[in-house]
Amino acid sequence: MAKGIVIYYSRSGNTKAMAETIAKAMNGADLPTECKSVSDVKADDLLNYDAIVVGSPTYYGHMAGPIKQLFDDAVSFHGKLDGKVGASFTSAANVGGGNETTIMGIVEAMLIAGCVVQGDPQGDHYGPVSIGKPDERVERQCARRGRRVAELTKKLMV
Ligand SMILES: Cc1cc2nc3c(=O)[nH]c(=O)nc-3n(C[C@H](O)[C@H](O)[C@H](O)COP(=O)(O)O)c2cc1C
Repeated sequence: MAKGIVIYYSRSGNTKAMAETIAKAMNGADLPTECKSVSDVKADDLLNYDAIVVGSPTYYGHMAGPIKQLFDDAVSFHGKLDGKVGASFTSAANVGGGNETTIMGIVEAMLIAGCVVQGDPQGDHYGPVSIGKPDERVERQCARRGRRVAELTKKLMV
């Protein structure tokens, strides 16, 4: 059976709260999904999941160091994430604070790894973005992204 993981780095809890909402939605859409801090994940673990969702706070318009390290460590099995579903999300302090470049940086790494990343024509296009603590809008976006990742993964992994 297909399964998913939501991986996050979070110092003050905003990205973690988004991760939990996404993982809950993925489980609710019948894709068994774990939610883990990046400090509890080794790169090799990624091989065990069909859907990999990665969230980071926006740090200088990019992913935080521990998330980058996870991707860098994955070079040891480069090519083996090919065809898995990927998605990303971020929390930032400011509108225009570099949040979408952060998401796109993660998406770029996923594409290089061969992951399938779906955009969203109605919701946050590249992935959910929160400014500070997630509000109701962000919670809806995270739930929507989680559902969409689960639905795509189940379609692809039959
Ligand atoms: C080192 C560092 C760099 C940051 N860079 C940015 C930035 O470029 N743009 C921005 O909007 N917020 C920036 N922030 C703020 C965080 O992205 C924001 O507080 C975020 O919500 C923290 O997420 P967390 O609660 O999951 O740790 C930065 C924070 C830190 C600690």
